[in-house]
Parts: sequence; C-alpha cells; structure tokens
Amino acid sequence: MSKLGITSFASAPAKIILFGEHFVVYNNPAILVAIDKRIQVNARLIPDYGIHIHSDLQEPFHYTSIKSRSNRLDEIRNKPLYPIYDAILRSIPDSFETGIDIRIKSEIPVGIGLGSSAASCVSTIAAVENLFKVPERRAICLKAMASETIVHKGSSGADCFASTYGGIIHYIKNQGFSRINVHKIPHLVLLNSGLKHSTRSMVSRVEEFKMQNESKFRELCKRASVICQKGMAAIQSGNIEEVGSLMNENHVLLQTLGASHEKVDELVDLCNRYGALGCKLTGAGGGGSVVALMMEKNFSKLESEAIELQYEVLPVTLDSRGLEIH
Ligand code: MEV
Repeated sequence: MSKLGITSFASAPAKIILFGEHFVVYNNPAILVAIDKRIQVNARLIPDYGIHIHSDLQEPFHYTSIKSRSNRLDEIRNKPLYPIYDAILRSIPDSFETGIDIRIKSEIPVGIGLGSSAASCVSTIAAVENLFKVPERRAICLKAMASETIVHKGSSGADCFASTYGGIIHYIKNQGFSRINVHKIPHLVLLNSGLKHSTRSMVSRVEEFKMQNESKFRELCKRASVICQKGMAAIQSGNIEEVGSLMNENHVLLQTLGASHEKVDELVDLCNRYGALGCKLTGAGGGGSVVALMMEKNFSKLESEAIELQYEVLPVTLDSRGLEIH
C-alpha cells in the first residue's frame, strides 16, 4: 500500500550548557539543561523523488533526485541545511522510492549557542523514521550526532543528548550521559549578544589554544572538571548560590580559552550588576548568548535595562520532555 501523503511530526528542545562547554570536546564532563524552546518538524512523503526542506531558520533546500545522492555533493555540502539533508538520508530505508517534504518551525534562534542544529537533526530523524518504523531514541540521537559532525568535526555530541533526552544531564563524550534528577531549577535567563557565532570556528580556536598551550590547557581541563563535579552536587542539593559562583568560575576559564567576546563579557557584567547569582557564556561563545542565574525579584530590573540596551532577553525553564514523536 502506498504511503504517499502520510505525515509525521516530532519536536525536540534547545539546551543551555551550565558547565563544561569546549572542555567536553576533550572528554571532560559537562552539565546541560534542556530548555522550553523547541524545534518542530513535519515530514511528509510526496510523489516527486526529491528532498525538500523548508525551514524558518534558513534558506529552503531542494535536492531533486534521491536516487542520484552523490552527484551534487560538492554543490550542496556548504548549504546551512546540509546536515538536515544528511539526517534524512540516514533515516529513510534503502528501498525508499518517493520524495520527502520537511517543514521545520523553530522557537530557537540560530547561532547563539542554544543547540538549534542538534534539535533540528534530532527532530528531523525522528519525524522521518516515524514514517517507516517505530523510532528508537538512542539510535536517533546517535544518527543526529553523526549528521552534526558534518558541520563541526570534533563535536562532543552533548547537544544531541540534551535535545533527545531532555532534563538536566551530566555528559562525558566517551562515556555517555546520566540524568540529574531535580524537578525545579532556579530562574535562568538568557541574554542574546546579537553576535552570531560559528561553533565550528570556535571549536577550532580552542583547538589552536590547546596546541599552543598544552600544559595550561591540561590545568584548565582539571579546573573545569572540578567545577562540573561541584556543580552537580550543588544542583542536587539545591545550593543555588554555589551553582552561581561556579558559573562565574566557569566563565573565567572560557575567557582564558579565548571563547568569550567583549560584548559577551559586557553582558556578563550587566547581569552581575543586576544581582545575578552567576553568569557565563553558554555554548561555543565568540558571541551568542549568556545564561544568568537570577533570583526572581531581580529579574525585571535586569530585563528592563537589557531591553533598553537592545539586547534580546529570554527567560527559560527546564524541559523534561525531550524528544516527542507524534
Ligand atoms: C556547543 O554547544 C558546545 C561545544 O562544547 C561544542 C561541542 O560540545 O561539540 C562548544
């Protein structure tokens, strides 16, 4: 029986990294929090043998023949939606003989460190696989990691795990993840510097730092690891003052790596002036956004000032749902 016209729907959350970005690429631990901003993907089988991707994040992507996959690789490899195309190819069966139409809707701004690329790959793979079989979370996550690796080779995979499983996770690249079971997180606020960054180039910058400062980098890794360990205990015991002060320490390490930016540091200072318990860049840095841990009573003053200075402010809460497939 033909499945043409059948549609499937999946959604997955963005994330912030509370502790350990960049270091996680080198098998150090990281703590990630899935947040209540999601990517939604609709997949539909169509009769034209092509792959069509429409996204409110990027230019549309059309690839006219699934059967001649490899012919135009050089032409399409640099397109922003190429990882999604790759994710689709990983999800269709070998016997696939029709076309596919993908619609991506996002609440996550691109290039500000919130994992839009991982959430897009996770939800695309889930929506497409769901057209053919019962999808399995871990397999989806691993495929999404493989598609993400196309964009930046050293990817730790942390973003894909946070997006697939939701909640707060402790992650180590060569060991996997464990859940940190708390039901409430303190007030987290994101401030967008307005500077988009490329994760790939920031990861290369850190690699350069590592090559030129081997022993310093080893020392920073040790300190980052201790921060993460203490961070996990502080989250579990609800000691938010300690979480905040560890976030500040973590930001200093990221500055030393060269992962921050003047504008990002200005935002961190702004949050601290308005009573943040802690604040740091989140994600790859070099722009992007900062995450601040605030008492609710201090939030509205910070918000007014940040808006006055024309920064985007996004209060966020914990997403415990992770990937959802319909
Ligand atoms: C990007 O969200 C986080 C980085 O640590 C890169 C990675 O983990 O692959 C900068």
